[in-house]
Amino acid sequence: MSGPSMYVPTSAFGKWFESRLPIVGLIHSSFVVFPNPRNLNYLWTFGGILAFMLVAQILTGVVLAMHYTPHADLAFSSVESIMRDVNYGWMIRYLHANGASMFFIAVYIHMFRSFYYGSYKAPREILWILGVLIFLLMMATAFMGYVLPWGQMSFWGATVITNLFSAIPMFGETIVTFLWGGYSVGNPTLNRFFSLHYLFPFMIAGVVALHIWALHVPGSNNPAGIEKKSDKDTLPFHPYFTVKDAFALACFLIVYVWFAFYIPNFLGHADNYIEANPAVTPAHIVPEWYFLPFYAILRAVPDKLLGVVAMFGSIAILVFLPWLDTSRVRSGRYRPVFQVFFWLFALSCVLLGWLGAKPPEGGYVIASRICTTYYFAYFIIILPLLGLFETPKALPASIADSVLGKSGTAFAMPLRAAHEPNRKA
Ligand code: HEM
Repeated sequence: MSGPSMYVPTSAFGKWFESRLPIVGLIHSSFVVFPNPRNLNYLWTFGGILAFMLVAQILTGVVLAMHYTPHADLAFSSVESIMRDVNYGWMIRYLHANGASMFFIAVYIHMFRSFYYGSYKAPREILWILGVLIFLLMMATAFMGYVLPWGQMSFWGATVITNLFSAIPMFGETIVTFLWGGYSVGNPTLNRFFSLHYLFPFMIAGVVALHIWALHVPGSNNPAGIEKKSDKDTLPFHPYFTVKDAFALACFLIVYVWFAFYIPNFLGHADNYIEANPAVTPAHIVPEWYFLPFYAILRAVPDKLLGVVAMFGSIAILVFLPWLDTSRVRSGRYRPVFQVFFWLFALSCVLLGWLGAKPPEGGYVIASRICTTYYFAYFIIILPLLGLFETPKALPASIADSVLGKSGTAFAMPLRAAHEPNRKA
């Protein structure tokens, strides 16, 4: 993964094992001595946080699945029984439900970090596309997971979203019937969603392995957006980044458990504590918060088919981002005009999220249309043109220069010397 390993086992067993399966060497070269840019800020800790959250979701999910019954007549009461009868069932469930939200908070920060610092640009295009694939799988997983408690919002959310496929000309109805396994959302739908909700996280784990593999070929991008030139630009992963990642994770976990223990239903919808009833439509069908920007895009377009195309297009367009951004300078830090458009883009995404929860009428629709137009214009018009016309600021000569100043000495040298006495300056 990270080039030939320098790892030398000390024990006889270690040598015997390593010559047959060099996995300790792989871990050593990937996560102990791996050279990371020395100027990474805390936004670079979210990849590790995401990896932790994926494991947390799988572990809590597997325990939930031991007590959950994927049947339309029993699902709702089995979730109630997890909450009341299973030892610590309430805790596992709240950790899992809020874990999904925390996962999305982390992934959005991770993605916007990439947008700002141009991490999607060459030579990291494949890494980026694998990320988009993970994002798609995450959305599918979260959507199907929300159906499992079989509350009113589960049922009607599933009905609205699966029905979108009926807008596809000719085959729409057939596709929807195929997805449902019948003529409405029902027991077969619940069953297959459970099966896929269990499967997808393991697929995500597989794609994450590729994601990290693709990351370790060029190494991480960094806030200066320039490649490493010498050993001075990097620090070994351990202890510098293991400690930094662990600190960030601890802070993140405080927020996570605060949600899970103090306001566990804050991000959910009260209607999902009412059992699914195909005869009663809730007053407002609202998706989970992390889907709201996409839901707003869907409803901003007056035509159903075009709305569906716009919604899926808003994610698909991310695949082409490495080629749509024509700027030779990677990091937004040195692109003053880009910064203005970037923050407007971030604002329009937040606004779309807010609008997705509002009724589709009057000023809300107009605002959604403006934000949707800006969303697409950002990728299709602004980024391609900016790269051609913007004059970026001067880049630092090296990563070390960007943090230590030109001399690369000052207080930094004694610190280096203290930590790495054997390394040449
Ligand atoms: C389960 C979800 C994910 C996991 C576990 C994960 C893991 C990681 C890790 C460990 C890193 C290196 C540390 C860091 O840069 O923060 C990383 C980097 C990166 N990820 Fe992800 N990632 C996930 C989802 C995504 C998604 C959804 C995208 C984009 C759509 C994405 C795009 C990137 C990019 C472009 C980098 C390189 C950043 C740089 O070097 O500046 N990742 N990811």
